[in-house]
Amino acid sequence: MLFSFQPCIIRILGFSIFFLCMLLFSLPQEDVEISSFHINSTVTSRYAITVITSRVKNQHTDSKEIHFEVKIPKNAFISKFRMTIEGKTYDGVVKEKEAAQQQYSEAVARGESAGVVSSVGRTLEEFKTSVTVAALSKVTFELTYEELLQRRHGKYDLLINAQPMQPVADFKIDVSIKENPGISFLEVKGDLNSGELANAVTTTRSGEEAWIHFYPTSDQQTTCSSCTENGLNGDLIITYDVERTNPNGDIQIMNKYFVHFFAPANLIRTPKNVVFIIDRSGSMYGRKIQQTRSALDHILGDLDSGDHFGLILFDSSVDVWKRELIQATSSNVNLAKQFVKTIQDRGTTDINSAVLKGVEMLNKHQREGSASILILLTDGAPNTGESNPDRIRVNVKEAIGKKMSLYCLGFGFDVNYDFLEKMALENNGFARRIYEDSDASDQLQGFYKEVATLLLFDLELLYEGASNLTETAYSMYYNGSEIIVAGEITNNSLESFKVEVVAFSSRTWTSSTKSTIWRRSVLSFCVLKF
Ligand SMILES: *[C@@H]1O[C@H](CO)[C@@H](O)[C@H](O)[C@H]1NC(C)=O
Ligand SMILES: *[C@@H]1O[C@H](CO)[C@@H](O)[C@H](O)[C@H]1NC(C)=O
Ligand SMILES: *[C@@H]1O[C@H](CO)[C@@H](O)[C@H](O)[C@H]1NC(C)=O
Ligand SMILES: *[C@@H]1O[C@H](CO)[C@@H](O)[C@H](O)[C@H]1NC(C)=O
Repeated sequence: MLFSFQPCIIRILGFSIFFLCMLLFSLPQEDVEISSFHINSTVTSRYAITVITSRVKNQHTDSKEIHFEVKIPKNAFISKFRMTIEGKTYDGVVKEKEAAQQQYSEAVARGESAGVVSSVGRTLEEFKTSVTVAALSKVTFELTYEELLQRRHGKYDLLINAQPMQPVADFKIDVSIKENPGISFLEVKGDLNSGELANAVTTTRSGEEAWIHFYPTSDQQTTCSSCTENGLNGDLIITYDVERTNPNGDIQIMNKYFVHFFAPANLIRTPKNVVFIIDRSGSMYGRKIQQTRSALDHILGDLDSGDHFGLILFDSSVDVWKRELIQATSSNVNLAKQFVKTIQDRGTTDINSAVLKGVEMLNKHQREGSASILILLTDGAPNTGESNPDRIRVNVKEAIGKKMSLYCLGFGFDVNYDFLEKMALENNGFARRIYEDSDASDQLQGFYKEVATLLLFDLELLYEGASNLTETAYSMYYNGSEIIVAGEITNNSLESFKVEVVAFSSRTWTSSTKSTIWRRSVLSFCVLKF
């Protein structure tokens, strides 16, 4: 396959040849000179392949352990790691996540060199390894990682982090982007494009392609305001979106494979029924409960007047603001905002009863042509009522019965995030971690903005004359996101290749079709001709 849509996360790389192992420090290394540090990122149709190449010399008169540490985006996966020492190349063995931890421990026990990936901060993971290099010898590290860029809030972000730990004379970041329908806007952000360092960034654009180069001098790497004697440290963030001329989406064919990018924007919003399930247990005390109140105040303000909503507060007991969902008229929203101001922390955490209450409220309020959404915010693990996570998942899945989407927001690090994520994924939603920080309220609002404007629901993308398809059924399509389906064209022939998207929406968008409100209808039917 050209595209890998469910990348595994690689946790370790084993080298059976080396003997010394690791105690890794994030410190600049003495007598070690990085002669060049290059990052080359190539994006084609939202798929980014990034290669980091670092050439390092051991200037010491003894053999020395040399570290290689880089940060890569969390949803990227490492596809290749290679070291070249004195002309000899050693390829890393890429292991799948499940087997990795054990094999890593075994490799360490055998005294072999190995690499690990661990999470740092909100968006990055760190890859670390080290190798012993003879006196006055050189080593080249080459790490390749790949990621499918996700469209959020109507744009893609390519994040590149650089922290070589010393000024490097030959330092380069090169990015090239090619998007066939054309690039509609492009912006370079991040701390590497600020202050004096911004002078080292050049951007060139043609219709379908863009190139970004970042070539700071050694001087710039030490004198910039965020730089130290250890050089620069920061992110370059390239934000862009693509042209969308065809509302049915863009279909790209490569050899016998196709990729369908579906992100229509010219639709009207579809009303939603949404229930917010808010944890007010004792652990939410202080800043967390304040931030939640503040975020809810904004989120309620963003509801559309066609939406209906409900509010549930829970600790060991479950309270509803109103017994039924009510329409998000401005007077109702104002009443809800008054109520939110009074939320106080207390008690323990009964997630099971709270979510089941939400399901019950939505079930009582089935409106034809509306989608049902549950948003659970919690900072703890279930510890009252049904507190076995597996049984809660079974209860919730059964109650929801595929009729609603459940989104779980895990606040801070005391949550059982694994449980929240599994529960969201098996109920057509997703989970997000909310980092306990001064901007938690913005993070909550940012999540809500992603699901604020529902355009289609209960979607099915149908392909004739194709096989080996990736996921084709989606419960929701929100404005600013994108659905991507890839597959193989049967018999390598476009003759019989057809695409159809079936979904619920307020109205079909093709002008030739009469509006069919509140019905699941065929939204597009395009026959491709080449
Ligand atoms: C970056 O990588 C691409 C793909 O391998 C290659 O074609 C290109 O020349 C590289 N760019 C630079 C500046 O090395
Ligand atoms: C969807 O997003 C686009 C781009 O941000 C915007 O122009 C459009 O009005 C949005 N649609 C709705 C229904 O809000
Ligand atoms: C596609 O599916 C067919 C069987 O339906 C299988 O023989 C073939 O190997 C698959 N191709 C890929 C690339 O998975
Ligand atoms: C694909 O080719 C096979 C054998 O040549 C043929 O039997 C089959 O009908 C073809 N399928 C399509 C969808 O054209």
